[in-house]
Amino acid sequence: MKPKLEACGVSFSYHTLEGETPALSQISFSVEAGEFLAVVGPSGCGKSTLLSLLSGLMEPEEGTIFIDGIPIRESNTSIGYMLQRDHLFEWRTIFANVALGLEIQKKLDASSRSYLEKMLKSYGLDSFEDAKPSELSGGMRQRAALIRTLALKPDLLLLDEPFSALDYQTRLEVCDDISGIIRKTGKTAILITHDLAEAISVADRVVVLSKRPAAVKAIFQVTFAPEYHSPLKRRNAPEFSGYFNQVWEALQTKEEAE
Ligand SMILES: Nc1ncnc2c1ncn2[C@@H]1O[C@H](COP(=O)(O)OP(=O)(O)OP(=O)(O)O)[C@@H](O)[C@H]1O
Ligand SMILES: [Mg+2]
Repeated sequence: MKPKLEACGVSFSYHTLEGETPALSQISFSVEAGEFLAVVGPSGCGKSTLLSLLSGLMEPEEGTIFIDGIPIRESNTSIGYMLQRDHLFEWRTIFANVALGLEIQKKLDASSRSYLEKMLKSYGLDSFEDAKPSELSGGMRQRAALIRTLALKPDLLLLDEPFSALDYQTRLEVCDDISGIIRKTGKTAILITHDLAEAISVADRVVVLSKRPAAVKAIFQVTFAPEYHSPLKRRNAPEFSGYFNQVWEALQTKEEAE
């Protein structure tokens, strides 16, 4: 079977009046259907740029991105892209916020409404449908943003540091929560994070990027015994610190040219 997503030799530079900023250099990796991939890398290395390319919002200068074996430009796979900030509209109710994507695509009908109602209920937000985002906690807002992303039933989820605005305690809970939702629905997901422990606690594989322009330094498979099936549980698994050290060392390793 073809991978869900495949990046082949992807390079990208920003061109501005100040000059050229190389952001990505020859990035290659693939993600299998149903796999959860985490991407870590130093601050400013090009992680968000990579996700924008994988979403099809921007085009690589070099290389190709394939979805189900088809170049992304020709693919009609639905991709959900959840940005670092929740970007909920303060003047819309929670229901109107989670329904936004469907509304724009003119798909808001009785059946999609009932799907939204069901998700709001299962994520504990049903009594907040008529509330404004300002009345919700950070974790609830993040869940609302996830429902809005999932409402379009994407086959592929791209998550750019979705938990970084949350305090540590909430971050652990929301991460556990959201990872459970993604696993349960069998989605393919790519999570960008600068938190190594978060990456190891949620992912099947962790891609380590170099500093800018980002290149793939290493890819680690992380496997845990079945009893460590949630991010919170994984953090207590005996193998956790070994993986953490491996990823940490890969991040620290100096590149050839340095
Ligand atoms: N629209 C843009 N125009 C010009 N340069 C940009 C643009 N967006 C990003 N860059 C530059 O590209 C590089 C990579 O940025 P990017 O946002 O992809 O990094 P990142 O790894 O996501 O950073 P962070 O860890 O802060 O989230 C940075 O040097 C940034 O200044
Ligand atoms: Mg970023």
